[in-house]
Amino acid sequence: MVIEKICCVGAGYVGGPTCTVIANKCPDIRVCVVDSNTDRIAKWNSDELPIYEPKLDDIVRECRGRNLFFSNNLKEEIEKADIIFISVNTPTKTFGFGKGKAADLQNLENVARLIANYSTKSKIVVEKSTVPVRAAESLNRILKANTKPGIRFDVLSNPEFLAEGTAIADLLNPDRILIGGEETPEGRRAIQLLCSVYSKWIPEEKIITTNTWSSELSKLAANAFLAQRISSINAISAICEVTGADVSEVAHAVGSDTRIGSKNLMAGVGFGGSCFQKDILNLVYLSECLNLPEVAAYWSQIIEMNDFQKRRFALRIIECLFNTVTNKKIAILGFAFKSNTGDTRESPAILVCKYLLEEGARLCIYDPKVPKQQIYSDLKVADNAENEKFKNLIEVVDNPYKATDKAHAIVICTSWDEFLKLDYNKMYDQMLKPAFVFDGRKMVNIEELQSIGFHVETIGRKTSKQPFKTRITRYISSD
Ligand code: NAD
Ligand code: UDX
Repeated sequence: MVIEKICCVGAGYVGGPTCTVIANKCPDIRVCVVDSNTDRIAKWNSDELPIYEPKLDDIVRECRGRNLFFSNNLKEEIEKADIIFISVNTPTKTFGFGKGKAADLQNLENVARLIANYSTKSKIVVEKSTVPVRAAESLNRILKANTKPGIRFDVLSNPEFLAEGTAIADLLNPDRILIGGEETPEGRRAIQLLCSVYSKWIPEEKIITTNTWSSELSKLAANAFLAQRISSINAISAICEVTGADVSEVAHAVGSDTRIGSKNLMAGVGFGGSCFQKDILNLVYLSECLNLPEVAAYWSQIIEMNDFQKRRFALRIIECLFNTVTNKKIAILGFAFKSNTGDTRESPAILVCKYLLEEGARLCIYDPKVPKQQIYSDLKVADNAENEKFKNLIEVVDNPYKATDKAHAIVICTSWDEFLKLDYNKMYDQMLKPAFVFDGRKMVNIEELQSIGFHVETIGRKTSKQPFKTRITRYISSD
């Protein structure tokens, strides 16, 4: 069997870029990304793509209409395909058993039923969404129970490891491709067929094959390990801020040990994004269900530390602004969960803004890629009467200098490169004095800003002239 047609269900941050790169690297394969969301598909077919990813536009433009298509016609595309990737969202459940922890798998199940209904020939079904261990078993059972005679489905696990903002580079040159399947002749054949797609641009030694459950668990474990490093360095940053140690120096010294390594040790305002928290919660829930409470408690702590880091940053802003931010204008620079994306899912900026709004601060928010409506929606200003009062406290602007005009403080929440090139002299002149910069991403040149006159506070470094005695007392007494 030769793979001629791939269909991907789910035209989001994973399905869109992944299939764009597959189409680019496999010109002989017809790739179609389908989604039930008509707006999203219309955008994929327009000049303004629904997501921002560096270099994505160029490759979409090159392949779209040639061997890359975006469609709402799930029936037709599922029917035609030899391989179906499932890349639908699997968010944390917001209801019922496992609420707040378990993965909501309804989208996955719906797609499995559509595949069974629409298929008129055998197919390989690839679980690309992140799922709990043994989700493929459910997928298999739903498919088998609804299959027409003579049709066979082979289910593979092929989790995606791309990071937003670097998705195209990650897809073109991944650290590894992971494929899990059944240890049967049919399972091995399916694995080989999927390998044959990736091997068009990925060296053989980077393609790892495992059993299905190892593959599913590896995805959750990888995200938990990555997030764990961030929470570990953020925990150290809290110690640095009260002792005079510098977290960048500590991260460098610690990361120089080749057993530890230097990546993902950047202290900051806390990790965000649609994956880390969701996948750790998923792991915690799985551990609880497996009657492993100690394992669950271990991984829970990564999220608790992350919440603490966001809260701590907001508190530091309030404390430095003389313990009151009521009615003070604060410029928020950056709202996305990281740079080079317009995605705000679980962005630390959301929580920091909410803490400041609760204290009555007036926020003027600037982000180069996040649409205004998204910011309003994340801060839930239209939800109820209580939140309506926040509406008057929030302004979203299209220019950083509008944000800093007559502001008391600048709060950096996302490390956009353009924040390095801002005219801080101009901003200082516009602002009320003393003018503060709170750098949640450790990106500004502290000495340079101090020489302009700014009071600078950054993560993991003691820059305040005031002693931190009260804070030390607070932390000790709350223990
Ligand atoms: P997303 O929300 O951006 O996209 C999911 C898409 O699936 C949406 O457009 C939605 O309309 C569509 N969809 C949902 N149910 C559908 C159905 N029944 N029929 C047709 N379309 C349907 O999500 P995402 O960020 O692309 O993530 C997808 C999966 O990949 C998740 O499991 C996530 O954990 C995982 N993942 C995400 C990333 C990332 O960086 N975003 C990285 C690796 C893995
Ligand atoms: C993550 C994983 O990196 C990726 O492999 C997986 O497929 C999906 O989840 P993503 O969430 O897109 O990717 O971005 P990532 O670069 O990991 O950043 C996540 C969050 O951690 C961001 O808020 C980022 O600012 C923060 N971060 C990252 C740090 O605070 N410090 C670091 O050293 C690295």
